[in-house]
Amino acid sequence: MKTAVKEMSNWNIEKIRADFPVLSQTVNGKPLVYLDNAASSQVPQVVIDRGAKYLREEHSNIHRGVHYLSQNATTAYEAAREKVKRFINAREAKECIFVRGCTEGVNLVAYSYGRKFVNEGDEILISAMEHHANIIPWQVLAEEKGAKLRVIPINERGELIIEEYENLLNERTKIVAVSHVSNSLGTVNPVKEMIATAHKFGVPVLVDAAQSVPHFPVDVQDLDADFYVFSGHKMFAPTGSGVLYGKKEWLDKMPPYQTGGGMIRTVTFEKTTYAGLPEKFEAGTPAIAANIGLGAAIDYLNSIDFAAAARYEHELLEYATEKLSAIEGVKLIGTAREKASVLSFTIENVHPHDIGTILDQSGIAIRAGHHCAQPVMQFFQVPATARASFAFYNTKEEVDVLADSIQKVIDVFA
Ligand code: ALA
Repeated sequence: MKTAVKEMSNWNIEKIRADFPVLSQTVNGKPLVYLDNAASSQVPQVVIDRGAKYLREEHSNIHRGVHYLSQNATTAYEAAREKVKRFINAREAKECIFVRGCTEGVNLVAYSYGRKFVNEGDEILISAMEHHANIIPWQVLAEEKGAKLRVIPINERGELIIEEYENLLNERTKIVAVSHVSNSLGTVNPVKEMIATAHKFGVPVLVDAAQSVPHFPVDVQDLDADFYVFSGHKMFAPTGSGVLYGKKEWLDKMPPYQTGGGMIRTVTFEKTTYAGLPEKFEAGTPAIAANIGLGAAIDYLNSIDFAAAARYEHELLEYATEKLSAIEGVKLIGTAREKASVLSFTIENVHPHDIGTILDQSGIAIRAGHHCAQPVMQFFQVPATARASFAFYNTKEEVDVLADSIQKVIDVFA
């Protein structure tokens, strides 16, 4: 691999790191090395400031008041929706439903689309590398409806076997639900091609975009995704923010997921009629501050040249892959040709939880466990992995610290 000798992309890393106050702290007496971005990324000062401004000056409920504060809050909330629309290139802002995160977005579609369009004998197609959030909602739906859950297999590199996917699609398939980037393996799936194939059968596709949207620019119209779901807290915004993008033609046909205030047109004891999009899917008071924060995170990503950030981060992943591959006793889990952000690994005779605990002593934050992807662990016949996951504020020096610390773990257990 060429990256070790190649200079990293021209990227003003000091300036970027200064935008994220959390990164400048020490942990266990060592500079924090934050490599758990796939679980939750850090939040830049501008997003913190935007949330604080809402709480300090604008806090009130949205869509309900004629008073000054409510109107300001509503304007800020709807402006955030508009920013989401532009960021992912949705046709209309009302195709962007605010949800609590990716998990809620998948559950919404499984419940609402599933309730209307999936029947006994139908098939739901997911993949062997899905996060539990993109397995269980479909499993529950299949159980309730007497439908069948079918699974696209993966190969030893952790890539989808696309020929099998094509064989699995048929006239009984009612939806395909697949991750854009695997949270446990880092594999980038060819979702654009997969969507085109599904559409030949008239089958809509939901893409779990939790691990793609924070790592490279996406265009939902270009992908032709029917549903595209992501969390704010993995893309530099607060927890509790998130988006379900859905094509209007599907969302219009789907029943509400939750009912209550804010999603109705008229209510009598005999009958309720529902509001249009997006309100139909946003019952109750939403996470106003968090979603305004998501809008601010999008402003931030637009301000830093996100495409350049993606290139830098990819080089960093390649550099880390090379460094860790060179350590005797380290085994990478997930070696797909197309990868983003995630480096999962095991060390011979050391449990991943021990790796995580020892690295923490050096101020390094990684995740150790099954990453809510137990079928992936079963496939690779490991109980768990250690996982470093990168963002554009990580550095080559941090990768060096990680590699040195991993070597120390190996030395301790040797
Ligand atoms: N889904 C998150 C992860 O992969 C929490 O860590």
